[in-house]
Amino acid sequence: MGAEVVVEGLTKSFGNQAIWRDVTLTLPPGEVSVMLGPSGTGKSVFLKSMIGLLKPDRGRCVVNGVDIVTCSEAKLYEVRKLFGVLFQDGALFGSMNLYDNVAFPLREHTRKSEAEIKRIVLDKLELTGLQGAERKLPGEISGGMRKRAGLARALVLDPEIILCDEPDSGLDPVRTAYLSQLLIDLNAQIDATILIVTHNINLARTVPDNLGMLFRKELVMFGPREVLLTSDEPVVEQFLNGRRIGPIGMSEEKDAAQMAQEAAHAAAGHSDGSSEEDLRGIVAQLEPTPGLPERKAVRRRKDRVMQVLHSLPAAAREGIIASLTHEDRLRYGLTAPSPRPAHDDTQEIPVWPGGRP
Ligand SMILES: Nc1ncnc2c1ncn2[C@@H]1O[C@H](COP(=O)(O)OP(=O)(O)OP(=O)(O)O)[C@@H](O)[C@H]1O
Ligand SMILES: [Mg+2]
Repeated sequence: MGAEVVVEGLTKSFGNQAIWRDVTLTLPPGEVSVMLGPSGTGKSVFLKSMIGLLKPDRGRCVVNGVDIVTCSEAKLYEVRKLFGVLFQDGALFGSMNLYDNVAFPLREHTRKSEAEIKRIVLDKLELTGLQGAERKLPGEISGGMRKRAGLARALVLDPEIILCDEPDSGLDPVRTAYLSQLLIDLNAQIDATILIVTHNINLARTVPDNLGMLFRKELVMFGPREVLLTSDEPVVEQFLNGRRIGPIGMSEEKDAAQMAQEAAHAAAGHSDGSSEEDLRGIVAQLEPTPGLPERKAVRRRKDRVMQVLHSLPAAAREGIIASLTHEDRLRYGLTAPSPRPAHDDTQEIPVWPGGRP
């Protein structure tokens, strides 16, 4: 199972520019999480801080008992081997072909033979749909291919934690759907802890177990996907629906006067070009490709979420309860065993352990 990452009170600024403060969250081991947030809110800075490439001002980021904010360089070097990172710009070496780029971490961090390295590199290139492109230089391939090569390189050391910074940027919708499936399949196969930063709403709605959002220099929320997907926080609603109307502006947050003016324009019938459809709500989560193992994270997450169910907002709670199978309900003691057939659980009345929350 992948490692747990515990972030506590993490705060980062550059000079007198505060980026975010007091970010506290836990990436549950082996689960998939997504971080959303408007451009410039510091998502990439957050990922880089998690692996010690940037130094936070204060706070902790603990991986396998090691706080990477305060540990020695030698320890940090060790802990970094647990991470596979896909940087936003792919960060490939321009003068190396794809094969050598993907082989680089293996040559740098392991004593594997070239034959072993070849097997692993070709395997990861195939996994990311790049077979045949081994000899190409990064400058000779498309942006989407560079992204996939970056992902292949992030996977070669069998990481326990995978960080992906906008893995879908530059990909067409079909490739993005394949990539979403790839991330879920990977999680099923290696049970790694995964954090994805993305602006892709469809990916955010269907892939992760947990969803969070950075806004106004703070973590607005982070928790089970059902919480953010049913949230009526204006900033979440605006972001999920990709609307202009709301607290997020082109360059930064809007002031009250600008929001009032936009609301007046909308009331006067000016279309902001977004669809009327509300994309909030819980949609089915992607499952691994048939034939692959089940994601072990699914059961662990259910157990974890059911323990904190009483502390979640009502809409999220209802969504989670509605998604439970009859067996789940029995497992969590939500129903008295029913004499009726197992397939008909529509009329069951939940019996809450310790009273209704
Ligand atoms: N090394 C650095 N030195 C100084 N400022 C930086 C550095 N890296 C990032 N910043 C600043 O931190 C802020 C957050 O940047 P970051 O790249 O994390 O945003 P982001 O949320 O990833 O945005 P996007 O969605 O556009 O990728 C920006 O104002 C950026 O200019
Ligand atoms: Mg970024």
